[in-house]
Amino acid sequence: MRTEEEIKAAVRARYTQAVQEGSGCCGSSPSVTFQAAGYGVDELKDLPPQAVLSAFGCGNPLAFAGVEPGQTVLDIGSGAGIDCLLAAERVGPAGRVIGVDMTPEMLRRAEANAAAAGQTNVEFRLGEAERLPVTDASVDWIISNCVINLSPDKPAVFREIHRVLRPGGRLLISDVVAEGLPEPVRADLTAWSSCLAGAISEGQYVAGLAAAGFADVRVVSRLPYEAGQVAALAGAPEGACGCGAASGVRAEDLAGKVWSASFSARKPGGADGPTVRAAGAGDLPAILALLEEARLPTAGVAEHLGDFLVAEEAGTVVGGVGMERAGEVALFRSLVVRPDARHRGIGERLFRALEAVARARGVKRAYLLTETIEARCRAWEFTRVPRETVPAALRSSPELTGCCPASAALMAKDL
Ligand SMILES: C[S@@+](CC[C@H](N)C(=O)[O-])C[C@H]1O[C@@H](n2cnc3c(N)ncnc32)[C@H](O)[C@@H]1O
Repeated sequence: MRTEEEIKAAVRARYTQAVQEGSGCCGSSPSVTFQAAGYGVDELKDLPPQAVLSAFGCGNPLAFAGVEPGQTVLDIGSGAGIDCLLAAERVGPAGRVIGVDMTPEMLRRAEANAAAAGQTNVEFRLGEAERLPVTDASVDWIISNCVINLSPDKPAVFREIHRVLRPGGRLLISDVVAEGLPEPVRADLTAWSSCLAGAISEGQYVAGLAAAGFADVRVVSRLPYEAGQVAALAGAPEGACGCGAASGVRAEDLAGKVWSASFSARKPGGADGPTVRAAGAGDLPAILALLEEARLPTAGVAEHLGDFLVAEEAGTVVGGVGMERAGEVALFRSLVVRPDARHRGIGERLFRALEAVARARGVKRAYLLTETIEARCRAWEFTRVPRETVPAALRSSPELTGCCPASAALMAKDL
């Protein structure tokens, strides 16, 4: 059994070395887990190259988080800062992003990346996930990407996350998870810093978060690892990575036992109404039911679900909105709020959150069609535009072809 200090020293040394090499692990760039992390090309194209080269995540937590302008986001184990920079775009000048990492070299790289990106609403703090240097109940969102598996005391991390989130605040954690790992792997220090030995199962994650006091704990996505990626994580000799192969670790012993998962949860309490978050496959029936009830079109929702957000209250979906994207343009659609939840600003929250998501995904101009809420859309800075100005890429959308041209207003806004 390794001590906490042994594990932390090994992890710190590993990530100091990795960031000093200026690329993914042992010169293979990007890192093995990052190759499968699920970022869109558009999301990364405006980041400083060093932020992307020094990324070691295993998911894309912000893709599933409904982070809104003006909010405070904490990234635990922020590394070279990739998710902090993406979060900074989402929260805008009125919001704040804090990155905490225990490896000083990573912190220096993150600060340089934030300066290169011109972001002034991000700050990085040296600290440990088990003792976060953050005030109680001060944060709206916690994100973390491929970090908690590295902690030797996960219950302490979950308790700390609960302490610093405000009531009603949410988390979105992407991490490596594992089931049935062979004992030699569990005992191997190199396998620990390779994100293998300390990985817990999805069930343990969910139970650990629930035990710390979180509600609505769920797995929102999974990214499987191919054999080659597992081999590289395990440090197989012919694998591209492996900062020193972990002793006794054979890639074939790990097949199907290691993958990346993203978890969401909410700290109970708060009088702030519903949470806005990315829609998952399980939300589709609720979204369709809301749209049908409101007599709005449902065609195309399933195909574009990855670009939908929902408002959730007490475990129930009370609203939704989505977009059909085509490169740098998008058609915003399907804004809906359950009748008994209307007049509480939920529609505007959904809409603003969708704008932030669209911006983060590279959309430069948004269109919408409305028969009923033109005045509200004007208040959200959309203006009426002639029908023939709709970009060709959006013209075949059933939203556009199916609506009444005489009564519906086409509106647009530069994001
Ligand atoms: C796999 S990297 C991921 C970095 C970053 N989240 C990303 O997506 O690129 C793990 C990071 O977590 C940090 N870390 C590991 N254990 C930690 C702990 N207990 N407390 C704070 N940071 C930790 C490491 O220093 C390293 O920067």
